Amino acid sequence: MQEINWNKHIDILKDALSGNGAFLIARDASGRANPMTIGWAQVGIIWSRPTLTVLVRRSRYTYSCLVEAPDFTVNVPTAGTLDDQLLFCGTKSGRDLDKAAACGLTMKRAQRVLTPIIAECRLHYECQVVLRKQLSREDFSSPQILDEYYQSDDHHMLVIGQIVAAYAS
Ligand SMILES: Cc1cc2nc3c(=O)[nH]c(=O)nc-3n(C[C@H](O)[C@H](O)[C@H](O)COP(=O)(O)O)c2cc1C
Repeated sequence: MQEINWNKHIDILKDALSGNGAFLIARDASGRANPMTIGWAQVGIIWSRPTLTVLVRRSRYTYSCLVEAPDFTVNVPTAGTLDDQLLFCGTKSGRDLDKAAACGLTMKRAQRVLTPIIAECRLHYECQVVLRKQLSREDFSSPQILDEYYQSDDHHMLVIGQIVAAYAS
């Protein structure tokens, strides 16, 4: 694993997000790490810090983890690998089973946060939560977006994490 500047491999992250996704890991109250597939994320500088923002709907088990968790990790597979696992973690809930164990993902100790990383992935971001913001109907000035994405009122929570370590293998 080689530590990298936070913006070195953003192209790889973006390709994954616009393809089959990347793994967001958050720990639940018992400390169990739950991988969830994400397609939406933003990386950039906010408050003079490198940040990674994820958007998690209220209905996800991951949501209940991130309401409490101090940190999370985002893990990007090599293109064309772990596609079955991405689909599994994007369609099954940690509420019902231990997804990492069920799809054979190896949880490995992270460098600077308590949430683990996925050993089988190529690129890793360790993030400390600095802001949580629950979106609601009133926040949107675009009726089209509300109509397209939030008919069931299952609004996202924005979770902004400060990237405290980024590395690739
Ligand atoms: C490619 C892909 C991308 C996804 N992106 C997101 C996302 O950015 N935010 C979100 O809340 N759900 C997203 N989902 C849905 C969750 O991954 C899915 O509902 C998952 O089963 C939730 O797991 P959990 O209940 O263990 O948290 C995505 C699913 C797929 C397949």
